[in-house]
Amino acid sequence: MTEISDILAAPPALQPTLDPDHAPAPETPAPRKVFLKTYGCQMNVYDSERMQDALARDGYEPCDSEAEADLVLLNTCHIREKAAEKVYSALGRLRELKKKKAAEGKVMTIGVAGCVAQAEGGEILRRAPSVDLVIGPQTYHRLPEALARVKQGERVLETDYALEDKFEHLPAPKPAATRARGVTAFLTVQEGCDKFCTFCVVPYTRGSEVSRPLSRVVGEAERLAASGVRELTLLGQNVNAWHGVDDAGKELGLGDLLRRLAEIPGIARLRYTTSHPRDMDETLIAAHRDLPALMPYLHLPIQSGSDRILKAMNRRHKAADYVALVQRIRAARPDLALSGDFIVGFPGETEEDFQATLDLVEAVGYAQAFSFKYSTRPGTPGADLADQVDEAVKAARLERLQALLFSQQQDFARGCIGRTIDLLLEKPGRMPGQLIGRSPWLQSVNVDAKGVEIGDIIRVRITGAGPNSLFADVLG
Ligand code: SAH
Ligand code: SF4
Ligand code: F3S
Repeated sequence: MTEISDILAAPPALQPTLDPDHAPAPETPAPRKVFLKTYGCQMNVYDSERMQDALARDGYEPCDSEAEADLVLLNTCHIREKAAEKVYSALGRLRELKKKKAAEGKVMTIGVAGCVAQAEGGEILRRAPSVDLVIGPQTYHRLPEALARVKQGERVLETDYALEDKFEHLPAPKPAATRARGVTAFLTVQEGCDKFCTFCVVPYTRGSEVSRPLSRVVGEAERLAASGVRELTLLGQNVNAWHGVDDAGKELGLGDLLRRLAEIPGIARLRYTTSHPRDMDETLIAAHRDLPALMPYLHLPIQSGSDRILKAMNRRHKAADYVALVQRIRAARPDLALSGDFIVGFPGETEEDFQATLDLVEAVGYAQAFSFKYSTRPGTPGADLADQVDEAVKAARLERLQALLFSQQQDFARGCIGRTIDLLLEKPGRMPGQLIGRSPWLQSVNVDAKGVEIGDIIRVRITGAGPNSLFADVLG
């Protein structure tokens, strides 16, 4: 078993090497091209955008294929074993491409960012000799400098937890770049986690909980709104643990932040993800009651319906606490649609425990949910537990749970037929004249609409439900 302290102990930055794989890069005529591939959660999507902005200032333009790229950057996820494995298979492919390019006299730089970089940085450099750069999520503001070192022929490992805040050192996107990203935007307000659920790598890959200051979040939201963004999704590994202070020194929570953001002209819709049940405070619940801009959709994972398993997972609440909490939030916002995450086959999970999860899902009712087989993660306490569940049992349980969740999702979608809703138009559809928007409950909705544009919010009536999206007619 690898200890987390082993994984996180950052080996000293490797010595400059002069092997042909890493020879100093000749000047490539500007503009250079970067292919950035993002794995994992929305926080990685946001980070990739910010890295893209930093690279743009350095003369890098985004491109759509690895083959045209001077720089390939993988922004990786470590949450489950499969996610981490994807990185090594991608690196195998890239190594071949790099060789091919070298034979043509071209230089391709390969970088690994994100949570695998943070957790296994040293190992990546050992296992994948074609990798030039490994950079962890806390140090993205050092990316240009790290690339300059790579150019000198160095293999760079940048995974120390930086003292300075990366967000304050990463450049803001140009308005045109924001516009190109569309009318909805992610905005990271909180990062890291101190909860230490026993299955989870996040506290190790993202470090301890940090909230971005109110003025910075508001400033960024205003900039996004000024570039045409209409919907903001606030992000954090534990977004509802966000806290700050106002100018008068008063302590604020996420509910207060949402109130402040709802005042920004142009911002019509607000969402946030991912929340922990223990951080759903009264102010936040009241925000669901009081703010029309706060969409009636909440991702609130519980992971398991069994108190015994919840305890072993260190979730620090019981299933009944969660059910009572959901009732309080629904009392504040009756049309709230709920989403969740579930893990099946956590060590020691019996058929009875699993049945408790199915019962909870029946009792709560989800509009949407994500469910996973427990994946043993090196360095987490769960990996040391003796009674690991057989893979075949996990697979069978996952299938049963997903069948139930899928039928609830379909019921929810069918229940929307006939409803009149506001639709934020986000992008063109596949058919001419068709546009795709999002319902308040985050479903994709297809409409045939004339005389409207992306970014408009229109009244529509839902007319049909497919497996992954809804259909609607424009009203008026
Ligand atoms: N902060 C969020 C979850 C972030 S990770 C929360 O507390 O709910 C996203 C989801 O990945 C988790 O909710 C969990 O369902 C899943 N997950 C995390 N670690 C996992 C593991 N070791 N095996 C399987 N699923 C896991
Ligand atoms: Fe992981 Fe738990 Fe933190 Fe969520 S709350 S990020 S599941 S440790
Ligand atoms: Fe994955 Fe890291 Fe997000 S492990 S889920 S990319 S925080």
